[in-house]
Amino acid sequence: MTSLFNPLTFGATSAPNRIFMAPLTRCRADAAHTPTALMAEHYAQRASAGLIIAEATMVMAGNSAFWMEPGIYNDAQVAGWKLTTDAVHAAGGRIFLQIWHGGRACHPLLNDGVQPVAPSPLAITGDEVHTPQGKQPYVMPRALRDDELPGIVAGFKKAAENAQAAGFDGVEVHGANGYLLDEFLRDGANQRSGAYGGPVENRARLMLEVLAAVSSVWGSDRVGLRLSPLNSYNSMIDSDPVGLATWLAKRLNDFGLAYLHVMRGDFFQQQQGDVLTPIRAHYKGVLVGNMGYTADEAAKAIADGKLDAVAFGTGFLANPDLPARFKAGAPLNAPNPDTFYSPGAVGYTDYPALGV
Ligand code: PHB
Repeated sequence: MTSLFNPLTFGATSAPNRIFMAPLTRCRADAAHTPTALMAEHYAQRASAGLIIAEATMVMAGNSAFWMEPGIYNDAQVAGWKLTTDAVHAAGGRIFLQIWHGGRACHPLLNDGVQPVAPSPLAITGDEVHTPQGKQPYVMPRALRDDELPGIVAGFKKAAENAQAAGFDGVEVHGANGYLLDEFLRDGANQRSGAYGGPVENRARLMLEVLAAVSSVWGSDRVGLRLSPLNSYNSMIDSDPVGLATWLAKRLNDFGLAYLHVMRGDFFQQQQGDVLTPIRAHYKGVLVGNMGYTADEAAKAIADGKLDAVAFGTGFLANPDLPARFKAGAPLNAPNPDTFYSPGAVGYTDYPALGV
């Protein structure tokens, strides 16, 4: 029976266990989106993960959705990330970089006054964004023209090249949670006509073009993809999330990706359903589950063959040695939400490991 502690090969990478670290926005880069030495310390502490998926990172200037988030579009950022990849590798770990475009979740106060872009002029409602001037409502985005989309694809490709120069082991394309690629995917945010709107094959087109471009840099066996067909975070909704997930599971077989990483539910429990079962039925590659798993539930999903690995977010945030704790059945440190996005080491590099 396969357990959390059996090795796993996903594409070109082999991991000693199936306990992945989910990407977590922590806002510890500097104001120029350059990764810091503190980030290297944080990630190296977590090197016992089967795979670290480093936090969502801007592919292009001018598309920031979080104050102090990292980027991967200039040489200083590549050098900054090299501190992290060197530290994780020295500690025996493996690390992919999650690359994203924030789409309509970006804010003019984070981007020199520039209006955010999206598939359609529909704003996020009911939530606020952290800016240097405190929390602010999201703003109405501008709809991208079709002739601007090759520039977005080129931005992801350049970011993929930069991630290689920074020493990562691969990249995860962020196709989840209401950021640009997901906004195109789900029909509640995409009301376009033409080649990138309407039927699912059109709504998925931008994401699939990005996957092809990024795979041309890395080889698809070092490229992962994250999806969240049910998550209503960022005002996202789709009229048929299970149909969308099923279509994607079939289509993604053409890519030979390192893995597909699926958030199984909805942060706000507004959209119900089971997307993992149809994805497992139709997707032939490595499947990573995520969202609120306990160690026991993750172990059962893997033993039952429903998943190949599970990514833990807040569990890894608060427990740098999460695999060792799971193995020992040891108690877990509780995460402190007050320090999720605050600057500095507190709540970032000071969660204790066992016996420390
Ligand atoms: C968040 O920090 O709230 C966040 C960031 C990226 C995501 C989801 C949530 O994909």
